[in-house]
Amino acid sequence: MARLVIVSNRVPVPGQRGQAQAAGGLAVALHNAAHQRDCLWFGWSGEVTSSETPLAPRITQAGRIAFATIGLAHADYHGYYRGFANGMLWPLLHSRVGLSEFRRIEFAAYLVVNTAFAKALVPLLRPDDTIWIHDYHLFPLGQALRDTGVRCPIGFFLHVPFPPSALFECLPQGDKLLRTLTAYDAVGVQVPDDAANLNALLDKLGIAVRAAAFPVGIDPDAFAKAARRAETGPEVMRLTDSLAGRALILGVDRLDYTKGLPHRLRGFAQLLRRFPEHRKRVRFLQIAPVSRGDVSEYRTLRRELDELVGTIDGEYADFDWTPLRYLTRSVARGTLAGFHRHARVGLVTPLRDGMNLVAKEYVAAQRPEDPGALVLSRFAGAAQELKSAILVNPYDPDEIAEGLHLALMMPLAERQERWQAMKEMVWRNTAVAWSNRFLAGLAHAASRSPGCVQQCGAVAAAAGP
Ligand code: ADP
Ligand code: F6P
Repeated sequence: MARLVIVSNRVPVPGQRGQAQAAGGLAVALHNAAHQRDCLWFGWSGEVTSSETPLAPRITQAGRIAFATIGLAHADYHGYYRGFANGMLWPLLHSRVGLSEFRRIEFAAYLVVNTAFAKALVPLLRPDDTIWIHDYHLFPLGQALRDTGVRCPIGFFLHVPFPPSALFECLPQGDKLLRTLTAYDAVGVQVPDDAANLNALLDKLGIAVRAAAFPVGIDPDAFAKAARRAETGPEVMRLTDSLAGRALILGVDRLDYTKGLPHRLRGFAQLLRRFPEHRKRVRFLQIAPVSRGDVSEYRTLRRELDELVGTIDGEYADFDWTPLRYLTRSVARGTLAGFHRHARVGLVTPLRDGMNLVAKEYVAAQRPEDPGALVLSRFAGAAQELKSAILVNPYDPDEIAEGLHLALMMPLAERQERWQAMKEMVWRNTAVAWSNRFLAGLAHAASRSPGCVQQCGAVAAAAGP
C-alpha cells in the first residue's frame, strides 16, 4: 500500500502539551484513521519562533506514523494562523461574516505560509505517495505543491462548513482562493449541504472541480471501551459522589463562539426558570478548554461566559447546591469518555459546526441498558446523521430548555430506541470508514484524471527547471 501523507495545520505529535496539543475534531478523526497504514503527517509544531519560518521539519516516529513539523515565525503565526485563518476564514465559513476581518497583509502571509509548507514538505515526498490535505488553513497548499512539480494524487478535505455563496463572496479575492482547488484530484466536505453550497459557487465562477460529502466519524469501539474503563476510575467516582444522585447534563467543547455556549447557558437557565421541578435535581457541567486565546473574539467570549456562569449560579444556587460547573481546562480523553457515560443528557448546541464529534462520542459512551439522551443543534453536521437526537434550534434558549426537559423526562424505552438508531449510525460511519471512502474516491479520481498529470506536467514545465 502506498504511503499516505497527511497535511494539517494542527498535528497531534505524541507527548506535546499546551498550544500544540489543543483539542479538536480534525486531529481526533485523523489520528484514528492514520494508524491503519504507513503514514507521514506534516504540519505546524505549535511553536512560534523568533526567526524566519524554518523549512527543516522535526521528525518524530510513533509506530507507523512519522510526524514532521515546523515552527512558524512570529509574523507568519499572526498573519496566517491568527489573522487570515482564524480571524477571517473561520468566522466566514461558519456564516459569521460580521466577525470576519480581512487584511491584505494577512492574506499574503497565508499564501506565503502555504508556499513554505510546500517547500518544507517536498523533500520528504516519494513519487508513489498519496497526499491528503486538511482544512481551511491549507486551501492553496495543493496548488503550491503542484507548482513545484508534485504529481502524486492530492486530495483536500474541509472539516468546517461551507456557507452559501452570498456569504462566501464577502471574502475579497475569494475566487482566487477557490481557483486553487483545481490542483486537487478530489475535494471532500462534511455533509451534502456543504457540497451543494461549494459546488454552486464553483459553478458560478466557472471553476472546474466538484466537491462531494464524506461525513467524518470517530473510533466508537475505542471510545466505548475508554468509557467503560473510566466508569470505575477515580475521576468519575469523584464526579458521581459530588452529584449525590442528581442527573448530569454535560457539555464538552472548545471555547469557541461557534459552539453557542452563551445561548446554551441561557437555555439551561431557562430550564431552571420554566421547569422548577428540575432545580436541585440536575447539575450542568460544561467543559470548555480555552482555544485560540489570543484572538480577541475568543477573549471576549470568555469574559461573557465568566459573567453568565456567575449570574446563573448566583440566581439559582442554594447553600447545598450549585446548578452549574464550568471548567476551561482540558480533560484527559479517557476521563471525558467516563463523564459522557455518566451523563443523563449530552448537550451539544453549536450555532454551526462542520460535523461535531462530541455528539458522536456521547453516543458511543452510553450504557446500552440505560442510555442518556442527546440534545443536539440542528445546525451541526452530525444532526444530518443523528436524526434520533432531540434536535433544537441553538439560537432559542426556550427550545434548548424544552429539549432538556424532554431529555430529562424521557422514559427508558424511548431513550433506548433513540440511542439504538444513533448507535448504528456512529458504528457504521467510523473514522476509518470515512478515510477509506475518501481515499478510495481520491484513488479513483486520480486514476481517471490524465488531466491531472497533464496539468502538473504543464505547471512543472511552465515553472521551468
Ligand atoms: P472541533 O473540531 O470544532 O473542536 P469536534 O466536536 O468535532 O469540534 O471535536 C472536538 C474534539 O476535541 C472531540 O474529540 C473532543 O472529545 C475533544 N475535546 C473537546 N473538548 C475537550 C476537552 N476539554 N478535553 C479533551 N478533549 C476535548
Ligand atoms: O476541527 C476544526 C478545527 O478547526 C481543526 O482544523 C483544528 O485543528 C481544531 O478545530 C482546533 O483548532 P486549533 O487548531 O486552532 O486549536
